[in-house]
Amino acid sequence: MELETKAFPKLLVRPVVVVTTISERGISNAAPFSLNSPISFDPPLYGFSCNPAHDTLKNIRENGEFVVNVVGKDFGALMHVLEVDYPYEDNELVHAGLTEERAKAVKPPRIKEAIAWIECKREKEVELGEHVLIVGRILAIGVKDEFWKETEVLDMEIAKPLCHIAGEFFAVDMKEAKYKRAK
Ligand SMILES: Cc1cc2nc3c(=O)[nH]c(=O)nc-3n(C[C@H](O)[C@H](O)[C@H](O)COP(=O)(O)O)c2cc1C
Repeated sequence: MELETKAFPKLLVRPVVVVTTISERGISNAAPFSLNSPISFDPPLYGFSCNPAHDTLKNIRENGEFVVNVVGKDFGALMHVLEVDYPYEDNELVHAGLTEERAKAVKPPRIKEAIAWIECKREKEVELGEHVLIVGRILAIGVKDEFWKETEVLDMEIAKPLCHIAGEFFAVDMKEAKYKRAK
């Protein structure tokens, strides 16, 4: 079946992250994003696409720091709260009943209830019309012990990461598979 080109994100399942930032006055902000990915190993870079109207972008432009919180399916029911366009400096974490935890290398907090966290400093921005691609350099990362396997990857079956397809459609409960790779 052929589809309209604008439907292409619906063919790509993507992890949902909740990006936390902080205003100049020190008030936290949180918002979910699914247009996101690691984009380089060395240097370690992460990218996500943000609508220019979002408070997330305003905060990153003010102080250049953000935390990418990797979240599980338990966050699915919070999406409709976290995605509300609250007034600037109205903290979504409070509305969602989530807990702020001090990050190691940046000022914005990480989310205590998240599976893992990736602390970033803005490296560059790329204007892409409807979105701005924010490229962040990774300064520190962490994962809760129970979600990290002895094999040194995220334990999919315990962490149950939340993934997005489009709109209200998400993907959860994926299983891990291991395939032989070329050396
Ligand atoms: C699952 C999900 C994924 C989203 N992905 C994106 C995204 O990749 N880029 C974007 O600009 N907005 C995305 N949004 C919308 C923002 O999270 C939403 O507009 C939010 O209110 C922005 O908050 P802020 O103004 O506090 O930054 C997504 C929302 C949901 C629920």
